[in-house]
Amino acid sequence: MEQTPTVAPMIDLSRKEDGTSSKETFSKDVAEGLSQFPKSLPSRYFYDAAGSKLFQDIMALPEYYLTRCEFKVLTDNRQEIARQFAASGFFHLIDLGAGDALKTKILLRELSQQKSEFDYVPVDISGDAMQQLTDSLQQEMPSVDVQAVVGEYFPALEWLQENKAERKVVLFLGSNIGNFKADESRHFLQRICSNLSSGDKLLMGIDLRKDPDTILSAYNDASGVTAEFNLNLLRRINRELGGEFDVEQFRHYPIYNPHEGVMRSFLVSKKEQDVYIRDTGQTFHFDAWEAIHTENSHKYSLQQVSELGKACGFSVETVFQDEACSFADVLFTVA
Ligand code: AVI
Repeated sequence: MEQTPTVAPMIDLSRKEDGTSSKETFSKDVAEGLSQFPKSLPSRYFYDAAGSKLFQDIMALPEYYLTRCEFKVLTDNRQEIARQFAASGFFHLIDLGAGDALKTKILLRELSQQKSEFDYVPVDISGDAMQQLTDSLQQEMPSVDVQAVVGEYFPALEWLQENKAERKVVLFLGSNIGNFKADESRHFLQRICSNLSSGDKLLMGIDLRKDPDTILSAYNDASGVTAEFNLNLLRRINRELGGEFDVEQFRHYPIYNPHEGVMRSFLVSKKEQDVYIRDTGQTFHFDAWEAIHTENSHKYSLQQVSELGKACGFSVETVFQDEACSFADVLFTVA
């Protein structure tokens, strides 16, 4: 018998409650970051349409091992992961930052095959991405119930906690946790935990510590795609805020600190220059070789991961790991 897909209308939680537009927030964050010393810009602004496309290209680079390795971890362990998710009956599978859900589809296929009882709740700030994902799942896996949510992670989790009483399994894949500062990642996991109930689960992708040269090459690829990704931040400021950056006068400079386990990326000014940004109404001065810090990518040891989880109310249930590339998907349970 042919199965009828259940596709609920998308939940849209993307409206800002304080009345500020996302452009005003972007302008304010840029002005703040470029006025301080040392200068910095938040890495969340990498992902406009051009930046998201460049990130897709990064994921296909030979040097960027993270995506390939996580694919392998999920593929090799899909049966056991699906079994552990579904062990206590029906659950909502909540995918934070789902995007095109290419990796999640490995698990969705397996869960369907195992005839697990669940529905899939992808969460993403991009309404277009959520519509495309809903459509593609309707085609590829019509038996999966999909309820996409457009919005930021926490309004979505709060909405789910208030409106869906059943068990929850949260996915936070791709080592996205690594892009937070240490205190931010703790705060983030604590907030996830506070929107879950005892016995709920979290599967989190984590890039582990490894040969510093391997890590550095992943963020400094020979074809220069990561450099373009980093420089796109200045192009985005030009496009959206009327910035006057001469992008040629900046260079991408990544550096890995093996002591801290942090990959840091910078944009370095090749000369002394002033840059006017219309929407901020300000001109920003750069000394020759002055740097803007644009991104952190933390690399963890398994001990750190377990301690981080514990400090936030989780205990480690299973570590699914690719030994060769030192990438882990860690399954936590709310204690
Ligand atoms: C999205 N995030 C996990 C990527 C990372 O590896 O930190 C972003 C990225 N930045 C440069 N290359 C990839």
